[in-house]
Amino acid sequence: MIDIFNNFYKGKKVLVTGHTGFKGSWLSIWLHEQGAEVVGLSLDSYSEKDNFVLSGIGRRIKADIRADIRDGQRMKEIFIKYQPEIVFHLAAQPLVRLSYEQPVDTYEVNVMGTIHIMEAIRVTKSVKVGVMITTDKCYDNKEQIQGYKETDPFGGYDPYSSSKGACEIAIQSWRRSFFNPIDYGKKHAVSIASVRAGNVIGGGDWAKDRIIPDCIRALEAGKVINIRSPKAVRPWEHVLEPLSGYMMLAQKMWNYPTEYCEGWNFGPENDSVSTVWEVVTELVKNFEFGVLKDSSDLNAVHEANLLTLDINKVKTRLGWKPRLNMQQCIALVADWYKRYKTEDVYNLCVEEIDKFIGR
Ligand SMILES: NC(=O)c1ccc[n+]([C@@H]2O[C@H](COP(=O)([O-])OP(=O)(O)OC[C@H]3O[C@@H](n4cnc5c(N)ncnc54)[C@H](O)[C@@H]3O)[C@@H](O)[C@H]2O)c1
Repeated sequence: MIDIFNNFYKGKKVLVTGHTGFKGSWLSIWLHEQGAEVVGLSLDSYSEKDNFVLSGIGRRIKADIRADIRDGQRMKEIFIKYQPEIVFHLAAQPLVRLSYEQPVDTYEVNVMGTIHIMEAIRVTKSVKVGVMITTDKCYDNKEQIQGYKETDPFGGYDPYSSSKGACEIAIQSWRRSFFNPIDYGKKHAVSIASVRAGNVIGGGDWAKDRIIPDCIRALEAGKVINIRSPKAVRPWEHVLEPLSGYMMLAQKMWNYPTEYCEGWNFGPENDSVSTVWEVVTELVKNFEFGVLKDSSDLNAVHEANLLTLDINKVKTRLGWKPRLNMQQCIALVADWYKRYKTEDVYNLCVEEIDKFIGR
């Protein structure tokens, strides 16, 4: 595999929370391929069709641990045992609609879970870098056309979005109180950042009420694809886009710990900001079959209509930019879902990472 990180991850001890999930499984594969010693910490995967299960990444990494991030004591024990150097915190309840059904759980996992991870980092001297994954939905959504900047206020209408806004406030507070760059090298040796991606899509996601998994389920069952919010505009991006950004950021934080410990948006270019209908049309085009139906649900729970991210900061300060446009992104997504049933999924993921890097 081509190494865009100049051998940085080789031999590094990296702890990934949420490694059984969609993004975490891809991140674990990529880190493993780079030679990192990956420790994964999560709940069980959701289904036998998850990328984590099909790829078998759990058997390849150094440790594949089942633990609940709401258990602060357990988090500290795991961190102390494995002595990670870099932490990517992805574990969360990540679904807007589920957060209306389970608001308390969503807050407990997302907010208290994040705090327990930061507390575990605090007692583990080996940790130098913590990348905390929140979301584009952490910003106070004003349904504005221009993208949200890192300096915009946090907020969130629904419990999921607001829990991630609350995570951002907690991360900011822990950074000021315990990981303050001013005290780096004197009171602590940790660099903490938060990262916000857009609507992440890619192979191996089967989450409920997410548009791509919903479409694939319908396509596989030969059913009509019902589109709940056809006009909703989202910053779509392939899973490898933000992951490449998180990995690049962690490397920068390692080398310049006081210069990059901030919030960062890893969204797509403006031309990939599209409506749900446009994205699904592109997916169906790639599959060469499938029937779409506008099933706008006027009684549905509130979800943001218009949401985009401003990515000038990552471009100018980090030198990161998206590699795929919307059409290339959907083609790569479709590629995984067309091939996962008949091919070795680990190799398929590695091939897709190589293809992505080669752009
Ligand atoms: N997928 C997206 O479009 C998107 C966009 C922006 C941000 N994010 C964020 O990225 C992260 C990963 O999202 P995803 O799409 O891979 O989600 P996912 O649901 O596929 O994975 C979530 C992971 O968190 C773990 N987890 C959940 N509750 C836990 C608990 N109590 N203790 C330990 N582990 C727990 C699960 O086991 C799983 O491994 C989340 O923080 C999410 O908010 C996702």
